Amino acid sequence: MKNQNYKPCDLVIYGALGDLSKRKLLISLYRLEKSNLLEADTRIIGVDRLEETSTGFIEIAHNSLTEHLNTPIDEEIWGRLSNRLSYLKIDLTQPEQYLQLNAAVDPEKRVMVNYFAVAPFLFKSICQGLQSCGVLTAESRMVMEKPIGHDLKSSKEINDVVEEVFHEDQVYRIDHYLGKETVLNLLALRFANSIFTTNWNHNTIDHIQITVGEDIGIEGRWEYFDKTGQLRDMLQNHLLQILTFVAMEPPADLEAESIHMEKIKVLKALRPITVRNVEEKTVRGQYTAGFIKGAAVPGYLEEEGANKESTTESFVAIRVDIDNWRWAGVPFYMRTGKRMPNKRTEIVVNFKQLPHNIFKDSFRDLPANKLVIHLQPNEGVDVVMLNKVPGIDGNIKLQQTKLDLSFSETFKKNSIFGGYEKLILEALRGNTTLFLSREEIEQAWAWVDSIQDAWAQNHSAPKSYPAGSWGPIASVALLARDGRAWEE
Ligand code: BG6
Repeated sequence: MKNQNYKPCDLVIYGALGDLSKRKLLISLYRLEKSNLLEADTRIIGVDRLEETSTGFIEIAHNSLTEHLNTPIDEEIWGRLSNRLSYLKIDLTQPEQYLQLNAAVDPEKRVMVNYFAVAPFLFKSICQGLQSCGVLTAESRMVMEKPIGHDLKSSKEINDVVEEVFHEDQVYRIDHYLGKETVLNLLALRFANSIFTTNWNHNTIDHIQITVGEDIGIEGRWEYFDKTGQLRDMLQNHLLQILTFVAMEPPADLEAESIHMEKIKVLKALRPITVRNVEEKTVRGQYTAGFIKGAAVPGYLEEEGANKESTTESFVAIRVDIDNWRWAGVPFYMRTGKRMPNKRTEIVVNFKQLPHNIFKDSFRDLPANKLVIHLQPNEGVDVVMLNKVPGIDGNIKLQQTKLDLSFSETFKKNSIFGGYEKLILEALRGNTTLFLSREEIEQAWAWVDSIQDAWAQNHSAPKSYPAGSWGPIASVALLARDGRAWEE
């Protein structure tokens, strides 16, 4: 990946007093500071509409760290970070107020990185404000993250607004899953290990499962979530991104363009799910009251602020077929849901069974090998394989065993970075490889819109599942119909 641009930056966070900034961005900047990864001259300018001073903003940042950091604040590191912070009160809907930025940033010395940590309806005002105050240069960047629209049409509208001011190579669209260590490790696993490169196709792989389960519910976000649903909130972005990394062809190199091109090819090859096959290929679920780790939790319709009639899905399972040479006949089963028994993100690559079994006395059906990639928690990789049980008596006995590579043990690192640190760093360094191109987002929306439309046409109601389970029974049936089962 190209990292030739190490120029210091003026990182301007719009919505600096909002949730995203306080819960994720400031914490990540602290961790980058701790790892000495911020350029000495890089500055951070918080922008929000609330009356606040730089001193007040610094105090708010300190409080956020105290609340969200999970470890005590190191005062020496905090001292360095707080020296970079300042605050500007700007009402983002008022173009003339952006003039304040001219005095705050220094495009001659620093690259201006504009982080839009606000709702998309403000993007237009920010873009126009930035343009009219004349502060942008060809080097300036903008960073935005989901929701980039709620369907193809609205996503195009957002991208059009941004494109009027920023070129595609200045735009950094975040999917925080692409900053996760284990997602990046997929590149290493697939393209640095010959045992996998030669076996990664329909000749040896039977099917692949991707699970992204969360034990949390809606956490006070009911209004946003109910308009969105699990398909748009998680599958359109995080799961499809994981899928592209698993399924793409080897890129020519690690340059942004090469990777984006291969990912787009996968998205284009996804077989459409329409009203004809939506019932057979998808399952929608909504949780009812249940227990998570022994504690009683309410159902989706009983959450605070819930509309009792809602038919929004909090779980989705899908069989995805990729119509290309490599994956012909290899289904990808994806499932994601809220209020699952625990937080678990993993990919299970199920290899084909051997054609003939010479160990019938020990195993009637030789179980196939599996590669299990744990994305979170306990990041690591397992290979499930058969071994002879040691002993000299009688026939050869086999047992299923695991080759287990835990990242924390192998690399002696207790804390693996979350996604944001990596992505903020890449945005500051000017490397777009791990960000989404406009075409990728639009391809993903086009595929997801077709599912959403099919559900709407069928008036399909979600199937219920108790909180603390792995989704509705229908999700088990989705695989059982193909003679398969979810990895439990
Ligand atoms: C966000 C979704 O994008 O990802 C949330 O909007 C979800 O609903 C979150 O909880 C999960 O992220 P992570 O990193 O905790 O797996």
